Amino acid sequence: MSYENIRLEQEAGIATITFDRPKALNALNRALLGELAQALGKLAEDESVRVLVLTGAGEKAFVAGADIGELATFGPLEAKWFSRMGHEVIGRLQELPIPVIAAVNGYALGGGTEIALACDFIYAADSARFGLPEITLGLIPGFGGTQRLPRLIGPAAAKELIFTGRMIAAEEALRLGIVNRVVPAAELMAEVRKTALEAAAKGRVALRAAKEAVNHGLGVDLATGCRLEVDAFSLVFASPDAREGTRAFLEKRKPVFRGRFKEDPPA
Ligand code: CAA
Repeated sequence: MSYENIRLEQEAGIATITFDRPKALNALNRALLGELAQALGKLAEDESVRVLVLTGAGEKAFVAGADIGELATFGPLEAKWFSRMGHEVIGRLQELPIPVIAAVNGYALGGGTEIALACDFIYAADSARFGLPEITLGLIPGFGGTQRLPRLIGPAAAKELIFTGRMIAAEEALRLGIVNRVVPAAELMAEVRKTALEAAAKGRVALRAAKEAVNHGLGVDLATGCRLEVDAFSLVFASPDAREGTRAFLEKRKPVFRGRFKEDPPA
């Protein structure tokens, strides 16, 4: 499958999707969202992929939001379809059974911030800028910004950003807890790769269970979340990786995780 608006590369168990419309600062049009959906479907099926990294082409932008040229033509029905499509694709990203890291290399505005928020965590270049500027267009965020941002940084801080449309620098995003780490722009991809490789070396089954426990636990009360964890914890013991990890520790060697969900049948 060849793509026109994104690039998909895979190396050492790490897949990288690069939003690739640099002339429009990688703005999200319908074609790009369709390609992103296809790429995520493909990656969800590919057992060789352990970690996904998202970034933007060029030095200026991660994603500068939804394509305003398209938005300008919408009535309510087109807007509803577009917002649903965005939620669907971004939901897939959040539910992908592997760690997803956003490498934010410049402007992440509107839909750009919203995509980054659906990743498991964000590393940002010191040049990165975040924001939900939809209000300045007479609109509101449509790809989850009014929902994920308040859950992450609290309603008051989120409302200030949404009501003003203000852009914030990477350091402020760090202070608010939007990003995990800020690094010089030239070092961003190397830093992300280092963390991606560290996670990629872990067991796929355990990574998936841990991600699901955190994601699903956030939407429920603590007691229900703890029960989810009990189930997830016990389920990973069905995977040979649990045996391998504990044995390797006791044998003082490095574990080799194969990412299988159950023992291989006897030969
Ligand atoms: N949609 C379409 N085109 C965009 C775009 C967008 N979101 N953002 C930038 N571009 C285009 C510009 O029109 C320009 O194209 P031309 O060269 O053909 O004129 C090109 O990218 C470069 O942009 P600028 O010349 O504006 O670059 P700048 O450095 O002066 O400013 C910027 C950079 C501050 C990011 C500015 O481009 C900007 O404000 N962009 C819009 C950001 C925005 O409002 N995003 C939210 C969109 S709505 C949304 O995302 C809804 C949702 O929740 C899903």
